Amino acid sequence: MKDMVVLISGRGSNMQALVEAGLPVAAVISNRADAAGLAYAAGRGIATSVVSHRDYATREAFDAALAQAIDGFRPDLVALAGFMRILTAGFVLRYRGRMLNIHPSLLPAFPGLDTHARALAAGVKLHGCSVHFVTPELDHGPIVMQAAVPVLPRDDEARLAARVLAQEHRIYAQAARWFLDEKLVIESGVVRVKGEPPQQLYAP
Ligand code: GRF
Repeated sequence: MKDMVVLISGRGSNMQALVEAGLPVAAVISNRADAAGLAYAAGRGIATSVVSHRDYATREAFDAALAQAIDGFRPDLVALAGFMRILTAGFVLRYRGRMLNIHPSLLPAFPGLDTHARALAAGVKLHGCSVHFVTPELDHGPIVMQAAVPVLPRDDEARLAARVLAQEHRIYAQAARWFLDEKLVIESGVVRVKGEPPQQLYAP
């Protein structure tokens, strides 16, 4: 059976959504020993492992150790789920075409951090989240699926983030399922999903 490894740094609610959707999560790996998501995974009988970036002098050395930990599980898919480390190009290319990320904005708008505050400051009327393949340029890989949510008049960062997060959980599980079912085709940097609609529109 195909399976996946999920990389986290903290809370791990997206990882939890993947597990609860019944996806085959073989292991959860964190770069922080205090990541709350590790306890959830262990409680579900999933293998967990910590590769602390603080134990390595360079990004290359950390990425090599991380790759070794991942490859021990021989996953078909690597899913970044709130994994807060910049990865080297070498690491990213090792998992080319089989590493996904969830990002809390409608890419290509708002790559990087603080997406909800930036969306509010920009006055956009729709915000959302994207699942994309990981490429060396941060938050720029081919987009698999997106969900849009409205930005409402009384939104603050927390309210908007919560509305987006609920959609993250839905689209990440869906996109990972499509990957494992071999429904994703990348053509000239554009993802085609065989026979499925790759967008989720907010239905209040
Ligand atoms: C999510 O909003 C994810 O999109 C972003 O970081 C957050 C992680 O949340 N990259 P969680 O750890 O999955 O709960």
